Amino acid sequence: MPSLADKKIVVGITGGIAAYKSAELVRRLMDHGAGVQVVMTDAAKAFITPLTLQALSGRPVRDTLLDSSAESGMGHIEIARWADHLVVAPASADFIARLASGMASDLLATVCLATSAPIILAPAMNQGMWRKSATQRNIATLMADGITIVGPASGEQACGDVGPGRMLEPSEIISHLTRTGNNHSLDGASVTITAGPTWEALDPVRALSNHSSGKMGYAVAIAAAAAGAAVTLISGPTALNPPPGIQYRPVQSAEEMLAAVEQDIDTCNVFIGVAAVADYRPLRSETSKIKKHSDSVTLELVRTPDILARVAQHTKRPFTVGFAAETDRAIPNAREKLHNKGLDLIAVNQVDETNNPFGSEENHLILISKTDEIDLGRDSKTVLAEKLISEIAHRYHDEYSA
Ligand code: PMT
Repeated sequence: MPSLADKKIVVGITGGIAAYKSAELVRRLMDHGAGVQVVMTDAAKAFITPLTLQALSGRPVRDTLLDSSAESGMGHIEIARWADHLVVAPASADFIARLASGMASDLLATVCLATSAPIILAPAMNQGMWRKSATQRNIATLMADGITIVGPASGEQACGDVGPGRMLEPSEIISHLTRTGNNHSLDGASVTITAGPTWEALDPVRALSNHSSGKMGYAVAIAAAAAGAAVTLISGPTALNPPPGIQYRPVQSAEEMLAAVEQDIDTCNVFIGVAAVADYRPLRSETSKIKKHSDSVTLELVRTPDILARVAQHTKRPFTVGFAAETDRAIPNAREKLHNKGLDLIAVNQVDETNNPFGSEENHLILISKTDEIDLGRDSKTVLAEKLISEIAHRYHDEYSA
């Protein structure tokens, strides 16, 4: 594990019962030899005292934006510049909303806005607040802005509810921290990723599509870039912002996605097909809006090109990874796809009442190759994407150094 010794880490603490775990986080970071500056919001001080954190970090805690004595010494811009990493744990729903909208309403939000250091947020809140669409929109915005979201974990909560919203344990946060900015496993590799749904036009205002939000594919693209790869993200229509530092090609239909993929096919080293590509498109796309002249309409559908199979069968093929969303016989069906399409690896997500990966923040992935099967478990799409990229990196290197 890469070392945190001599790293300068700002630990941001916001208001929530999980703030008691922040003391342990600070203590463990100090044990790793890191320098820690704690920045607290006013709400955090209702849960843990600045004195405790000062004693653990060996530095006065900073909590005020407009503090003339601090501005002449370690002011908010200095803290932002000083940091090698910034980790906010716990990150409350309120703080997440403020950060997503770019507000600089207190010291911690201002430091987050001003810093160029990688930022990790460890959300903690009631499960209902976490599931609320406003929070999910804010999380998607922050992920698209390149911020790493770790957790939350699921389980029993302080309020008695059960569900997602528990802050990750300090040891888990530290293991994410050591990976962020220290991962060079795909340095020099060029990685092309497809994400989101495709839209197959029926007429100028209607299309056949599916519920893919792009979250899984965008998380994979961010994780590949964090591992040092030059990433091209080819995305169907989604509500997500293009992640920073990634070459982004928006497309609509399967045909357009194939054309975008073909631009890279000779040069990319790794191809990951996360997109939920429509298997069929209307034979004809009308040039004018279809009118409601009758009670029923018969659509004639034809197959779209299989982009993944084309990549895998290309003469100079990249290391090729597919995804499979299956409602029945997930593993045997995915194995069949691995074999029929000639893939190196396939990531299976079962779609059932316990796991619906379409649009959600979490997923459960199982990786299958010709020789093995690995359960990556149930986790946030960010964490699963990191695990997937780490598996791909070592298999890609094994293949090319063999
Ligand atoms: O976007 P999210 O809301 O985060 O949801 C993520 C996801 C569920 C879309 C993602 O995790 C996923 O499973 N993507 C693949 C879903 C799918 O359509 O699987 P499939 O079994 O139909 O296709 C198998 C593979 O072939 C996929 O890699 C797909 O990209 C590829 N394919 C399929 C059809 C086609 N015409 N061309 C393709 O390249």
